[in-house]
Amino acid sequence: MTFDRSIKIAPSILAADFANFGAECAAAEAEGADWIHVDVMDGHFVPNISFGPSTCAAIRPHIKGVMDVHLMIAPVDPYIDAFADAGADILTAHIEAGPHIHRTVQAIRGADVKAGVALNPGTPASAVEDLLDSIDLICVMTVNPGFGGQKFIDLTAKIRALRKMIGDRPVHIEIDGGVDATTAPLVAKAGADVLVAGSAVFRGGSVTNPAPYGENIRAIRAAAMGTYA
Ligand code: DX5
Ligand code: ZN
Repeated sequence: MTFDRSIKIAPSILAADFANFGAECAAAEAEGADWIHVDVMDGHFVPNISFGPSTCAAIRPHIKGVMDVHLMIAPVDPYIDAFADAGADILTAHIEAGPHIHRTVQAIRGADVKAGVALNPGTPASAVEDLLDSIDLICVMTVNPGFGGQKFIDLTAKIRALRKMIGDRPVHIEIDGGVDATTAPLVAKAGADVLVAGSAVFRGGSVTNPAPYGENIRAIRAAAMGTYA
């Protein structure tokens, strides 16, 4: 994976057809997705259960590009090797998931995977300050994690603070929750480069009719880049 700050659209398969993950990932990529965002939920850290490492391993061959795995689980450390073996390119752990986030990001990098940290809406930007040289991505949650389709929480001041704090370091700012063509420009302008979108990408289409995915992805990208589609 090479680093750049261009806008990347990362469809979340939480909004895809769970009986067709492989085909959904391939369709989203064919329609212009840059990364595929994979939401893992444990029913403990968040009030919902999605799937685990074997599902990630099963969909991996259907993703040509970056598999971006968002771990909404606690504890994280006992499962890092399983998700690394499943083929994740990025593993993002929540800073709120335990007392030893520095150990967690070290373990992720030790497994030869890019390390991300996610911040819940109530967690301040300053919480990642001492991690900036140890991570590859900060995921700013703009909803409380657990479900797709929730209303965007405006945290542009936090995104701006993070962008300033990162400086020249090769660290992505990813936004997750309620991103669509209306909210994308706000977060892109504040300094985000990876935009996760579930419902705003998968709505209106299906594996047999994937063209709406492309229209949705292009609309979000154009809005983020300031050239409204
Ligand atoms: C929320 C997940 C998100 C979610 C985004 O807990 O981490 O990735 O799927 O869904 P939308 O884009 O519908 O808010
Ligand atoms: Zn997510």
